[in-house]
Amino acid sequence: MTTRIESPATTVAGTVAHAIAEVLGLDPAGVDPVIRPSQFTDLQSNAALSLGPVHGLRPRDLAQRVVDRIPTDGPIAHAETAGPGYLNLELSTDWIAEQLSSLSIAERHDATGRRIVIDYSSPNVAKEMHVGHLRTTVVGDALARMLEWSGHTVIRQNHIGDWGTPFGMLIEHSLDLGRGSAELDRMAEDPNAFYRAARAKFDASPAFAERARRRVVLLQAGDAPTLALWTELVDASKAYFRKVYGSLDVSLTDEDLAGESSYNDELAGICADVEALGLARVSDGALCAFPEGFIGRDGAPAPLIIRKRDGGYGYATTDLATIRYRAAVLRADQAVYVIGEPQATHLEMVWAVAREAGWLPSSTETVHVRIGNVVGADNKLLRTRSGDGFTLAGLVDEAYRRAAEATDREHAIEDDDERERAARAVAIGAIKYADLAVPHDTGYMFDLDRMLAPVGNTGPYLQYAVTRVRAVFSHPRAAGHDPNATIVLDTPEARALALLLLEFDATARAAGEAFEPHRLCALLHQVAKRFAAFYDAVPILTASPTQRDARLRLCRQTEAVLVRGLDLLGITAPRRM
Ligand code: ARG
Repeated sequence: MTTRIESPATTVAGTVAHAIAEVLGLDPAGVDPVIRPSQFTDLQSNAALSLGPVHGLRPRDLAQRVVDRIPTDGPIAHAETAGPGYLNLELSTDWIAEQLSSLSIAERHDATGRRIVIDYSSPNVAKEMHVGHLRTTVVGDALARMLEWSGHTVIRQNHIGDWGTPFGMLIEHSLDLGRGSAELDRMAEDPNAFYRAARAKFDASPAFAERARRRVVLLQAGDAPTLALWTELVDASKAYFRKVYGSLDVSLTDEDLAGESSYNDELAGICADVEALGLARVSDGALCAFPEGFIGRDGAPAPLIIRKRDGGYGYATTDLATIRYRAAVLRADQAVYVIGEPQATHLEMVWAVAREAGWLPSSTETVHVRIGNVVGADNKLLRTRSGDGFTLAGLVDEAYRRAAEATDREHAIEDDDERERAARAVAIGAIKYADLAVPHDTGYMFDLDRMLAPVGNTGPYLQYAVTRVRAVFSHPRAAGHDPNATIVLDTPEARALALLLLEFDATARAAGEAFEPHRLCALLHQVAKRFAAFYDAVPILTASPTQRDARLRLCRQTEAVLVRGLDLLGITAPRRM
């Protein structure tokens, strides 16, 4: 099923817009009914406050005339004016129940044909991924899933750093170790060790450093044996990335790799074109573009270096290539970059040059999803005790250890395999959810205890809600219930829960399209809370058979929303925990 579910707010907005349009003689398509949640009833419209004066009416009078035209035999049960010109709208409980009874959460919506290219994760070869990479990976992956589910064509681009001067020393080091060395294999486990060893030699031995420099020249010249050695290193790193993505349940595959090196052949041409268009000139030996509107600290036009003094190309040049490729070849309607906040100016300058060069048509929209910093308890960028950046594997292991402690304490799961899988799902869910539940551009403090807390806006709280709903169904008293029973909303808790469930589809789509997964998190958290309130206050399995079945159906819809919502965030719910 791929039907679009209108949220109650959207349905009401349509009705109210029509009524306003009739009263004022306008086209309903141009009327914003300003629907908001209400403190006193379900929803309210604030439109009369601003529209009244424009049309020479007192807001209260306009609101009254709109109320008179709102049918109250459909979705809206009752409408009345309040205060200076608000319009309070109470939904029909029968209508809510009917909507929810026929609700089927889409597996995936039909393709709408928009092409969204999304760059995320993008770690560097021969280096361990750190917490910053973790956040762009988690946020990017959730966005890719959400947008794909909404019916967009999503093209993932993992722009790994697989080129540049460090490869000189890395290749020389691997040559020293000899072909087929175990060190290279170990890179898939611990890439930092290899990098550090190479670096140490580079710093200690001038002869090694000289070899490394000559190797870079050979690499850039496309020397075949050098390229073969480089490929070995990159492959070892790819194995590491695959392992990390697999263990984190991230949807990136080798197909999505589009590393810096894949643009090598285009860089000289890009520089030549930019220069020929008069958009760049040599300054201090380097070829620099000066896109309009960018001023440096000294008040002079800020340069974007596209060819260094030594003739090499850098990060800006490859990013000119990425945007050109994504617009022209991948035909992106939207080119989305999920990368660190500090890279904002870099991206804007690159896009500006690309636009001036005619590579970025107005039909391709660019978006920077700014990723904020994750800091440790001391408010500094996350570090381990030894002073190194906290490694991703170390972090996941620690979360797993703590989650496993909790599952062991509960003694709820006898089977060892299942217990271990549950602890893993909880650990990963906790880490991912912490990245997703706050706006992506705000920094936050990395605190495993808070992430793993069983209550609050956390992954485990949502996962726990799922296990609770599922437990209801595995109870003997649920046996023989009618899975298609019509939902009846005979308690306030049930009604409140139902209303939220109907918002899921629209919220999940809007959150993806606004690149704000935290809005989906907020909805799911509310659902879990309202489910808990319902579960605590309303008897389900001990109710009369018809009531039981109607309530079980409400539970099923809750489960569907929570499971689908978590899935869109890249989080699985264990059967038990
Ligand atoms: N490799 C870069 C880093 O680790 C991120 C690349 C992001 N993508 C891009 N197209 N610039 O910081």
